[in-house]
Amino acid sequence: MKTTLKFGVVSGFLVIGAFFLFSKSAEANVAAGETATSPRSLYVSNCARCHGSDGKSQTAQGKKLDADNISGGGVSTAKAVRIITSGKGKMPGFGRKLTPAQIRSIAAYIKSL
Ligand code: HEC
Repeated sequence: MKTTLKFGVVSGFLVIGAFFLFSKSAEANVAAGETATSPRSLYVSNCARCHGSDGKSQTAQGKKLDADNISGGGVSTAKAVRIITSGKGKMPGFGRKLTPAQIRSIAAYIKSL
C-alpha cells in the first residue's frame, strides 16, 4: 500500500514535470519561428541589400542596379507578389527561395515602408 502511494506520487510529479518541459519548449519554438520569419526580418535578409531597410534603394548595390524606390506604399500587393516571385529586370526572383506565404507577407510589409 505504502509503495503504491509513493509510486503514485513520484509518477505524478514526473508527469507534471514532463508537461512543463514540453510546454516550455513549445513556447520557445513558436517565439523563434516568429522572429525568423517575421515580415521585417524576411525583408531585411532578402531585399534590403538593394532596396535598403527604408525601401529607398540608396544602398551601393541598389544605386548600381538602379533599383526602384519602393517606399511610400505605391506598389500594389498583387504587383509586389508577382515581382518578388518572378523578378524584374536586374532584380532576381524569389519564387524558389521563399514560400508563397513568405512572399505575401513581404509584399504586405513593403506597403509600410
Ligand atoms: C539584387 C538587388 C535586388 C534585390 C535583392 C531585390 N530587388 Fe527589388 N528591384 C531591384 C531592381 C534593380 C528593380 C528595378 C527592376 C526594373 O524595373 O527593371 C527592383 C524592383 C522592385 C519592385 C518594383 C517597384 C516598382 O515600382 O515597380 C519591387 C516591388 C521590388 N523590387 C521589391 C523587392 C523585394 C520585396 C525584394 C526582396 C524579396 C527585392 N525587391 C529584392 C533590385 C533588387
